[in-house]
Amino acid sequence: PRYFALIPAAGVGARMAASGPKQYLKIGGKPMMRHAIDAFLFSELIAHTYVVVSADDPVIDSVVPSHGVTVLRCGGATRMESVRNGLAALAPTLRENDWVLVHDAARPGLDEALIEKLITGTGEHAVGGLLALPVVDTVKRSLGGELGTVSREGLWLAQTPQMFRYRLLRDALAAVRDPSQVTDDASAVEALGLAPKLVEGHPRNLKVTLPQDVRIAEMYLATTQP
Ligand code: CTP
Ligand code: MG
Repeated sequence: PRYFALIPAAGVGARMAASGPKQYLKIGGKPMMRHAIDAFLFSELIAHTYVVVSADDPVIDSVVPSHGVTVLRCGGATRMESVRNGLAALAPTLRENDWVLVHDAARPGLDEALIEKLITGTGEHAVGGLLALPVVDTVKRSLGGELGTVSREGLWLAQTPQMFRYRLLRDALAAVRDPSQVTDDASAVEALGLAPKLVEGHPRNLKVTLPQDVRIAEMYLATTQP
């Protein structure tokens, strides 16, 4: 089978509140999104890597390496739309059964070992797979004045990459009614009644969302696993 990487990188980083999109912030000496790009480039399992940016992105060409990466300028208003547009642009290139690994540009801790763990762990699973972490904290739900404790048994935090067959992921995203409810790719697939496989990820693969996440990511980037 062939494996491709698709990196949505068309967000504005509102919660990071930096002067520009967070995926371009320097982290561990290079732009945040370069870490994930390089992990896919160094992985021998990945046939090609695609990055989705917004049509008016002024800096992407100075950030991607000159070989092995293709920039798709078709970002949308939500992550889901960016992924959907990117997959549509790949229609002439990808076959129905090719695997696509979708990975947030804002997760710089990805490395070749995690890519390989996901691909091996998912194997020939009929639906697909994603990296995720078991919940370790006590979970509270506070809604409308009611407070309760949710058992953490069986609860996982989704990471990326999330890998699916090209055709299945396109169909799943095409069927989404409310994009605001779909914050990852697996949820669109689950909405079809399908159950992707969970493969245990690693805390180093955190999503850099808030300003304080930058230092945590840099700490992991300065160390190798475990
Ligand atoms: N993303 C995208 N297109 C969008 C929104 C998000 O490609 N319209 C990408 C981001 O660039 C990021 C990934 O999806 O790599 C995960 O999204 P998130 O962490 O939410 O990034 P932002 O949307 O940029 O941040 P915020 O939600 O704080 O604005
Ligand atoms: Mg967002």
